[in-house]
Amino acid sequence: MTKVPVIPFRVPEAVLCAVTGFPVSHSRSPFIHRAFAEQFGLPLQYERVEARPGQLSTTLDRLHELGCKGVNVTVPLKEEAAALAAEASMAVQTTGAANTLWWNAEGGLCADNTDGVGLVRDLTRNWGMCLSGQRLAILGAGGAAAGVIPPLFAADVAEIVLINRSQARAEALVERFRSLGTLSTLQPAAHATTPVDLIINATSAGLAGDTPTFPTGLLGPSTHCYDMFYSTSLTPFLAACRARSVCADLRDGMGMLVEQAAAAFAIWHGLQPDTTAVLSALRGR
Ligand code: ATR
Repeated sequence: MTKVPVIPFRVPEAVLCAVTGFPVSHSRSPFIHRAFAEQFGLPLQYERVEARPGQLSTTLDRLHELGCKGVNVTVPLKEEAAALAAEASMAVQTTGAANTLWWNAEGGLCADNTDGVGLVRDLTRNWGMCLSGQRLAILGAGGAAAGVIPPLFAADVAEIVLINRSQARAEALVERFRSLGTLSTLQPAAHATTPVDLIINATSAGLAGDTPTFPTGLLGPSTHCYDMFYSTSLTPFLAACRARSVCADLRDGMGMLVEQAAAAFAIWHGLQPDTTAVLSALRGR
């Protein structure tokens, strides 16, 4: 049996929050939340707590006992988090995944998913895109793709084309979200002649240094290329887009990371942090 992780200490007088997932040692959430807390003089203890699949419930119980106020959940526990919630937001109900948890006055677990709002804010506020009426392609049909389709339609995009290695998974997402807007699938090796306004990589291929295959005809001179995966250097997907040298602009998911964290921070503490300075600090400038 695997050992259930615990927080070894609790700083007196500080508000305790945490991020959990497996692995979690790479998470930038402690840096981001501590930087937000500094903006308000909020004494915050924010810890990384590693939990394997199946360990989330016990981990949350332990954190709650310690007086923890809020927990961010990262891969691969977002679906497990949604299933544990006594109160789930519409975003959690639609996507079946949660990344932000807290407890109500009765000790019931509450869940929200701020990934979608984080992506839309990064695209619109930080990158200056107007999503209304835009034609999008999303690469991937896993949890990450599912989490952003509803908020993108809510931001009034005209059409989303899903491209996934496993066609059956893409078809399943179309079935699930077809009532929200114009949604279709395209084979990765298809010949696409009409470029999209925005192409988003929502696959996990970047973790292994890979680039998903996609129809190159989707890229045109005004196509914006976004990778939900982020890196200190150009991600493999963005490098592949740049190599085709036709797209308008490129951006990775670091802004989405900061924006989803800001939305979680606002839920827990009732304070809306400034994300610009924190994003610049993360990018090392
Ligand atoms: P997440 O929650 O991060 O979305 P997931 O549900 O495991 O994780 O989904 C991973 C996605 O990345 C899937 O769309 C997967 O494609 P398949 O459904 O065909 O497995 C996609 N993916 C992962 N590695 C990939 C690769 N090397 N090339 C293309 N797609 C890849």
